[in-house]
Formats: sequence, structure tokens, C-alpha cells
Amino acid sequence: MTQATLTRKDFLSVLDLDATDLERCLHLAAQLKADRALGRLAPTADALNGRHIALLFDKPSLRTRTTFEIAVRELGGHVVGLQPDVALGTREPVADVARNLERWVDGVIIRTFSQDVLKDFAAAARRLHVVNALTDEEHPCQALADFLTLQERFGQCRGRTIAYVGDGNNVATSLAHAASMLGVHVHIASPEAYQLPHTVVQQATSVARHGARLRLFSDAADAVAGADAVYTDTWTSMGHEDEAELRRRIFAPYQVNEDLMALAKPGALFMHCLPAHRGEEVTADVFESEASVVFDQAENRLHGQKALLLMLLAPTTPL
Ligand code: CP
Repeated sequence: MTQATLTRKDFLSVLDLDATDLERCLHLAAQLKADRALGRLAPTADALNGRHIALLFDKPSLRTRTTFEIAVRELGGHVVGLQPDVALGTREPVADVARNLERWVDGVIIRTFSQDVLKDFAAAARRLHVVNALTDEEHPCQALADFLTLQERFGQCRGRTIAYVGDGNNVATSLAHAASMLGVHVHIASPEAYQLPHTVVQQATSVARHGARLRLFSDAADAVAGADAVYTDTWTSMGHEDEAELRRRIFAPYQVNEDLMALAKPGALFMHCLPAHRGEEVTADVFESEASVVFDQAENRLHGQKALLLMLLAPTTPL
């Protein structure tokens, strides 16, 4: 029997896990995925034992909200869906929202704008487990699903290379963090003004293991050459909608199409966190191709997040 041990209170960033915890989380996620067919007979079906978990989303979501709701229910917990009028810092101070919620619920899953707001929220409520369901800066739950997907396809991911093409955004940041910890090389190709922040490069470098190397490129073809997987995301993340037309022009050379995929390793995977915009960051033929694992990534959001909730909220569950 193993236990899902994790000593951190919160998951605001991939960097809140050490490499051992990250590997354990991915291993556990694979186990939970296999056990799902057992339904109520799964060993984790009552792990949360009726505890309440709140969802507070300041931005739209299909995948993250749905998979967290299912995850909590499948672990025997109850979901409290907070309405958008709770929006952090608008009606009352962030710390007050946190200090109310910790009197009622055990965890809060938050999608909001600023990572600093998330940190303030988590710091204000010492008893509350806080999970980052996406901020402008990081999307750590997406990285769990991404590496579960790569692990399923490649077995051992160490030494592989992922090329991320497009905006050096929250998805790219969490991908770089996790890849570095898992010994996976990352090539990121972005227009000059949209490169991964320097602090993220420093963070990824500081947690890199097994020789993992993060390299930034301005040319998409250079980044993709010989890669095992090619990843892209929307050119216009939530909150930047007024720049959409400008971004379409700037990012046009970064579209993932068949010509670009042909430069990657034969059999390379295509990845996208979704929602996708066919004809913009990816062509319809690549999106629908055999190489595409985008719906595996979407499915694995559920399993990765179940593993995470177990590690944070029910670490002594026998598995
Ligand atoms: N990938 C992702 O986070 O999807 P949603 O925005 O639908 O949650």
C-alpha cells in the first residue's frame, strides 16, 4: 500500500511540488485513471469523506471547472460552486473572502487574473487548501494533464523534447516548470515581445534535473526541429481580447501546420490545452490528425486533478 503524501498546503504553482511529489502525482493519476472503472468500489471513492470544496472562477472555463467538479464528487466530497459575483477583491477584500470560506470549506479551487491575488488569498487562510485553476501567470493543473498524456505515450519522458510554439504565457510557464523537474527539454518559440518571462527561465533552470534544458527561439522551425511533441495555445489569452487582431498578425508565422509538424521527429505528437482556434494557432488538419492528443490532455485533466486533491486533502488515503 502507498500513501499520497504531500506536505504543502496549496498548489499555486508547479514549483509548489518537488520533483518527487510531481512524479508521485503523475503515478497516482495513472492509477486513479485505471481505477475509475470501479466507480464507487474504487479505493479512493470516499477519500474526501463528505468534505466541501469551493470553486471560485473569475474567468470562463469548460475543462477545468467540469473536471474539478467531477474529481471532488468521485473522491467523495461536495462541490460548492461560488457565483461570479464573489469576484476576488471587487466586493470585499481578498483576505476577507478567504477568511470566510475557511470557516465552511476545506479547499478552494480558484481561477482568477493575478497570481499575487491567489497568493494573498492562500496566505490569509491558514486552514484552507488553495489550488490554482489558472492565473494570468501560471496554469499548473494543465501541466499535470500534459505530462500524464506524454507519460502514457512515451512511458519514460526523461530526455524527450517538447517544442512549444506561440505565446510565452501561463501554459508555457507551467509546462517549462514541470518539464525541467521531470528531465524533459523544452524549446519555446515566440515573437520577441511574447517570450517566456526571464524569471520563469530562471525558475525552470533552478529546478532542472537530469540535464533538462530550456531554450528560447524566435523561429518556430528551429524550435520544432527534431522535437518529440509540438505544443501550442491560443494567441490571445483571456484578458487580452482587445489585442486579438494585432496578435493574429504578429503570431501568423507561429501557426502549427503540416509543414511545421514535418520538421519534428517522425511520429511527433501535437498538443494543445484547448480551446483551439483552427486556422489561427493550428490548422484543422493538424488538430484532427493522428498526431493530435488534445482530447487525451482534456481527459487527463480529471485524473491529474484527482491525484492532486488526494495529495493535498487526503494524503493518508491507503491506495
Ligand atoms: N485548458 C483549460 O484550462 O480549459 P478551460 O479554460 O476550458 O478550463
